[in-house]
Amino acid sequence: MNGIPEAIFQRRAVKVFEPVEISEATREQILNAACHAPSSFNSQPYRFYWVGTTKEKTAVAKLCMRQMPAETASALVVVVADIGSLTATSRGQVEWMRSRSEFNEAKIRDYARTAKIGRILFMPGPFGIFAALKWAIFRLLSLWKTMGMPPLFRRDVFKWAMKSTSLACENLMIAAESLGLNTCPMEGFDGRRLSKYLGLSARYHEIVMVIAVGKKSQAYVQPPQWRRPLEATVTIL
Ligand SMILES: Cc1cc2nc3c(=O)[nH]c(=O)nc-3n(C[C@H](O)[C@H](O)[C@H](O)COP(=O)(O)O)c2cc1C
Repeated sequence: MNGIPEAIFQRRAVKVFEPVEISEATREQILNAACHAPSSFNSQPYRFYWVGTTKEKTAVAKLCMRQMPAETASALVVVVADIGSLTATSRGQVEWMRSRSEFNEAKIRDYARTAKIGRILFMPGPFGIFAALKWAIFRLLSLWKTMGMPPLFRRDVFKWAMKSTSLACENLMIAAESLGLNTCPMEGFDGRRLSKYLGLSARYHEIVMVIAVGKKSQAYVQPPQWRRPLEATVTIL
């Protein structure tokens, strides 16, 4: 996979695709690239649903309000922020550390302890009671100490997970582009029905976006790309 900066500048939200087959190897490369994005505490709080069969694609495209990119894509990737994956992920990392010679027992214990504290910190508790309590403690402490506020309420935990998930989305799109494919990120979908279709739990899952993947149709004329000039976007201190 070469030419990453080119892929960044070439990537456009493509609205009409032509039918192409995406091989398993390409699919794996795209998804692998997505998973290589940085994530907070390396928590990788997301799940990708690759929708590639005609039957499933038709159903998901319908829930994307029959938008043209969804209807014509070769695959639709439903990207989900998954806050229910944290325990399994840190267990997986502990197992991985145990399998490597670079980590001694003390290091592994250290990681496991930090991960546990993180999980406790992020646990909102029934009706957000723990979150409210922790919020009051953190607010009090912050009167004396310079400190950041961890995500405490469920909404905040989702917001936290969505940051890492969005980075994975961008990786996915750039990887697809550099592999000769095109994409369109979409937030125009019926979240409630799509969640139900995928069997997601409102407690742990939130759909961040659906990414249409395919090959741009020859007939589709891409409008020119506009961005604010840098000085309107950047503050240099
Ligand atoms: C979070 C997000 C949601 C979007 N939702 C849609 C969508 O539902 N339908 C669509 O056609 N394009 C959607 N887009 C694509 C944007 O319209 C597009 O990226 C923007 O106009 C800039 O165009 P460019 O990506 O070609 O530079 C979305 C983009 C993002 C980042």
